[in-house]
Amino acid sequence: MASKVTVIGTGNFGSTVAFILGMRGSCHEVVLRGRNVDIAKGKALDMSQAANAAREHTIVRAAEGPEDMAGSQIVVITAGAPRTPGMSRDDLLSKNAGIVKNYALEIKKYAPDAIVIVVSNPLDVMAYVVHKYTQFSRERIIGMAGILDSARMAHFIYEKLGYGAGQIRATIMGGHGDTMVPLPKFTTVAGVPISDLLDSEEIGEIVKKTRNGGAEIVNLLGSGSAYYAPAKSTAVMVDAILKDTNQIHSCAVMLQGEYGYKDIVSGVPVMIGAKGAQKIIEMTLNDLQKTRFKNSVASVQNMVDSLCENDFFQDCEGEK
Ligand code: 2OP
Repeated sequence: MASKVTVIGTGNFGSTVAFILGMRGSCHEVVLRGRNVDIAKGKALDMSQAANAAREHTIVRAAEGPEDMAGSQIVVITAGAPRTPGMSRDDLLSKNAGIVKNYALEIKKYAPDAIVIVVSNPLDVMAYVVHKYTQFSRERIIGMAGILDSARMAHFIYEKLGYGAGQIRATIMGGHGDTMVPLPKFTTVAGVPISDLLDSEEIGEIVKKTRNGGAEIVNLLGSGSAYYAPAKSTAVMVDAILKDTNQIHSCAVMLQGEYGYKDIVSGVPVMIGAKGAQKIIEMTLNDLQKTRFKNSVASVQNMVDSLCENDFFQDCEGEK
């Protein structure tokens, strides 16, 4: 079957996702959907030509309208305002909720069988908005974040050690925000626990840098946020679905009782395959890890509550 992935948003993030998919020959067709169709067309042409240079078969084309999403196995939502220096991801809440809601409704209408990967920020809440407005099963709505945050933590561990790049497996749970929960106890370098390689002060610094990883790049760029690592992390998820890898990645999914939470999206280890988030893995957490995860879930819940207070969900078919 021909595989088709739609990427919504033609900014740096969306374009880079499409480019990586094209360069890897991940699928037969990538559809780029942006507000400015000419820009989408220009980028699509450029990327299709790049795929030829890479001897890959992927064709990238621009969507003229939402109907061009039809038949997509995966739709990636990157659309929305990025952060500017001094802004937290949460500051984007109401603006991006409206944008993401409209795309969710379009996906429901034109690509009703697609798996949706959500990366617009604040992404746990945006994944929640997609749930409420598509009413898709929870397997089919996955927020990207844990892969990115883990990659950032791995990089900071490498910086501290000066070796091990590419062999570091970092684990992060919770929301993609300032309350994310890096888990040094589940983090290794080629199987060696980092507690055997670094002292607690050094690990504390790494945890802090990881939480601040996105903001550090926002501040350096001056306008817009990171996109290479976020786009690669998204492409890892797309590949896991299209290749039905059944591998475990940390992703944001709707919890339905796991870890003691219901009807809220947060980052947990998930087995990703052709049907999406096919299995949620429940790790045994100690009391401190549980408290940190609770605080992270609470911060996502506060944002959902603030949308509810502003009657954001009044026109969706779900219960909220
Ligand atoms: C980041 O952390 C874009 O949220 C993304 O850089």
